[in-house]
Amino acid sequence: MMGDRDVIIYEVGPRDGLQNEAKFVSTDIKIDLINMLSRTGLRKIEVTSFVSPKWVPQMADNADVMTSIDRVSGVTYAALTPNVKGIEAAIKASADEVAIFAAASESLSQRNINCSIKESIERFKPVMEMAAEHKLPVRGYVSCVTHCPYAGEIAAKDVVKVSEELLNLGCYQISLGDTIGKAQPKDIEKLLIAHKAVMSSNDLALHCHDTYSNALNNIKEGLEQGIRTFDSSVAGLGGCPYAEGASGNVATEVVLKMLGEMGIRTGINLEKIIETANFISKALTRIQD
Ligand code: HMG
Ligand code: MG
Repeated sequence: MMGDRDVIIYEVGPRDGLQNEAKFVSTDIKIDLINMLSRTGLRKIEVTSFVSPKWVPQMADNADVMTSIDRVSGVTYAALTPNVKGIEAAIKASADEVAIFAAASESLSQRNINCSIKESIERFKPVMEMAAEHKLPVRGYVSCVTHCPYAGEIAAKDVVKVSEELLNLGCYQISLGDTIGKAQPKDIEKLLIAHKAVMSSNDLALHCHDTYSNALNNIKEGLEQGIRTFDSSVAGLGGCPYAEGASGNVATEVVLKMLGEMGIRTGINLEKIIETANFISKALTRIQD
């Protein structure tokens, strides 16, 4: 029973959405965006990432953003933390939840976090220990769950291996990332069936990029397979700077519209999300001018 929410939308716009923007988006715009999102009924907002500013300069103001937003009760404010340095900073800035991120493809792992998959799991262990000490829930991402821009198609069994490792480390949920949006519903079906052989659908979320307009059909497949948490990004912003061809996440407003038409409840006000999408789209257009 989920009360007035059949499905949880995990809003990743301020992080995944903005990290790929070439020009620096001011800290004030980021804060305004998050404050608007906080008033839409969303319960989960990924605010920023505590990664190296040399790797992702757009997220260099992570602590300022995390400490300056208006916290709305009932909303979880989350951040990516690739290593101990990241989680230390996230704790200092009072993040409510953190996320570690691995890849199912060796080549993306090297390009994105500068280490092998095995090394990344080792690197996450002290992050998990620190999170446990501070009672912080940890989400685990797996990128390139069906296709990698460098290694091509990825076998479901290889993804399951990484998901299981992250779950065994103590992540409360694994978000399966179709990083470059190449997955088709049949790929998602195969991927989820392979996961459900070893874990529950409640342990899983789907993180769809919409490069080839497959995301809505992939989410429908996810619903069929019992998935109840979906990541999306207001205005369809997004992309991974280290995965060639990774464009926007599926737009939150588009997902909400589809779920509404299907009679599925999220507790989120679509009009307010559209207002927020207009706000950030206009702000980004001004920056590009
Ligand atoms: P590295 O260069 O191997 O790390 O990068 P290092 O430990 O050797 O440190 C290098 C420098 O970075 C040092 O500074 C460190 O202090 C600093 P220097 O001594 O040279 O001045 N540093 C940090 N600074 C601030 N915060 C930190 C931090 N860590 C080191 N946490 C590292 C390894 C993981 C740090 C780097 O590769 C990195 O930051 N990668 C992040 C890349 C990224 O953010 N990608 C996008 C997010 S993932 C994504 O979008 C996919 C997802 O959406 C799901 C999907 O779509 O599939 C989640
Ligand atoms: Mg992503």
